[in-house]
Amino acid sequence: MPRPVVSDGSTAASLEARFQRLFGTPGQIFRAPGRVNLIGEHTDYNDGFVMPAAIGFYTWIAVSRRDDRGLQVYSEQFDETAELSLDGLAGPPRKHWSDFVRGVAAVLQAHGCPLTGANLVVDGQVPMGAGLSSSASLEVAIAMALLSVAHGALPPLELAKICQRAEHEYVGTRCGIMDQFVAVFGQDAHALMLDCRSLSYQALPIPSDVRLVICNSMVKHELAAGEYNRRRSDCEAGVRMLQEDQPSVRALRDVTLADLERNKNRLPELVYRRCHHVISEDDRVLSAADALRAGNLSRFGQLMNASHQSLRDDYEVSCRELDLLVALASGCAGVFGSRMTGGGFGGCTITLVRSDAAERFQAGIAESYQRETGIAPDVYVCSAMQGAVEWKKSAF
Ligand code: GLA
Repeated sequence: MPRPVVSDGSTAASLEARFQRLFGTPGQIFRAPGRVNLIGEHTDYNDGFVMPAAIGFYTWIAVSRRDDRGLQVYSEQFDETAELSLDGLAGPPRKHWSDFVRGVAAVLQAHGCPLTGANLVVDGQVPMGAGLSSSASLEVAIAMALLSVAHGALPPLELAKICQRAEHEYVGTRCGIMDQFVAVFGQDAHALMLDCRSLSYQALPIPSDVRLVICNSMVKHELAAGEYNRRRSDCEAGVRMLQEDQPSVRALRDVTLADLERNKNRLPELVYRRCHHVISEDDRVLSAADALRAGNLSRFGQLMNASHQSLRDDYEVSCRELDLLVALASGCAGVFGSRMTGGGFGGCTITLVRSDAAERFQAGIAESYQRETGIAPDVYVCSAMQGAVEWKKSAF
C-alpha cells in the first residue's frame, strides 16, 4: 500500500541518481503535493468556497537545462520518454501524460515567459486517478522546473492560474482553481479556506489530535471527465436562468437558497438540484470554517456528512463504492465525519478521525470494505503539508 512520504531524503537521492544516469549531469529537484479537499466540492468553478489541504504525496521532478529547444521528459510511472519541442507545442489534447508538460510549457510561453530546452525526470507519487490531484501536482512541479532552468520567475498565483489554463486547453478538463492553488499555497498542519472569486484565503489550523484519513475506493469511472464538464455546464445553465430574475448574478456564488427556492419553477428539476448542491455546499464551507476556528470537530464532521449526501443525491457525482466507504466510516470509533473528496465517480473519501483512533480505523475500514466489495482499498493516514518547493537537502 503506498504511504505518504516515508523519507523525502531517499526519494530525492534516488531521483538525483536516476537523473544523472539518464542525462549524465546533475539536476535540480522540485516537488509539488497532491491534495485532499475537506469540504467544498464542485464549488470552485462557481466562484464559491473550498477547504483543501496539501498532503504528503508528491510529484517529484529533476531537471536540467538543454542548449536546444527540446524537452526530453522521462516518466518513471510510465517508463516512457516524451520528446517535445518548445516550437511545436500547439494542438488538441492527445490523451497522453505528456499533455500536462506540453500544456504547461505552451501556456507559460503564451504568457510571455521565455523558456529554454530541458531534460526532465518525473516521479509522480500521487496516486493517479484517485481524485487526489496528481494532475495539478504534475503541472505545478513542471512549471517550477521549466521556469527555474530558464531563469524565469512568476508570482505564485500566476503560476497556479497558468497550470489551470494548461489543464483546460491541453488536457480538456474545465477544472476550477482549487487543486493548483493548494499545490502552490498549501501549509503544514493547515487547511486553506479559499474564496475562489477573490482568490484570497485563510490558513486554518487543523488540530493536532485529528488525522485526515483518505480511503481509496480503487474505483475509476471512465465517464468522469465528460461528466465533470457536464456538471459545469448545468451550473452555467442555472446561472443564465436565474439571471432572468436577478440580472446581477454572475455565478452560483451570488445566489442564496431562498433565491433558488423562489425561482424553482424557472429551472428544470435537474438544474435545480445541481444548483441546490452548489449553493448549500458554499454555506456548509462557511459553517465548517467557523466550526474549525471554534475547535468544534463534531459540527465539522456533521457538515462533511451533509456534503456527501448532497454530492450523492443532488449533484450525482458519487458512486456505490464511495457511498459504502462513507457508511462504513460512520460506524467507526473516533470518526467525526466522512465524505467523498475531489471530482467524484470513484476515487477517495476523506474521513476526519481522532489521532488515537486512526490506526484502528485504517485497519477496520479496509477489512470491511474488502469484505463487502472484494476490493482491497488503500487507506492513507495523512496530515496537511506544505505546498510546492525546490528541494534542497540543507533546507529539510
Ligand atoms: C476536480 C477539479 C477541481 C474541483 C474538484 C471538485 O478536482 O480539478 O477544480 O472542481 O474536482 O470540487
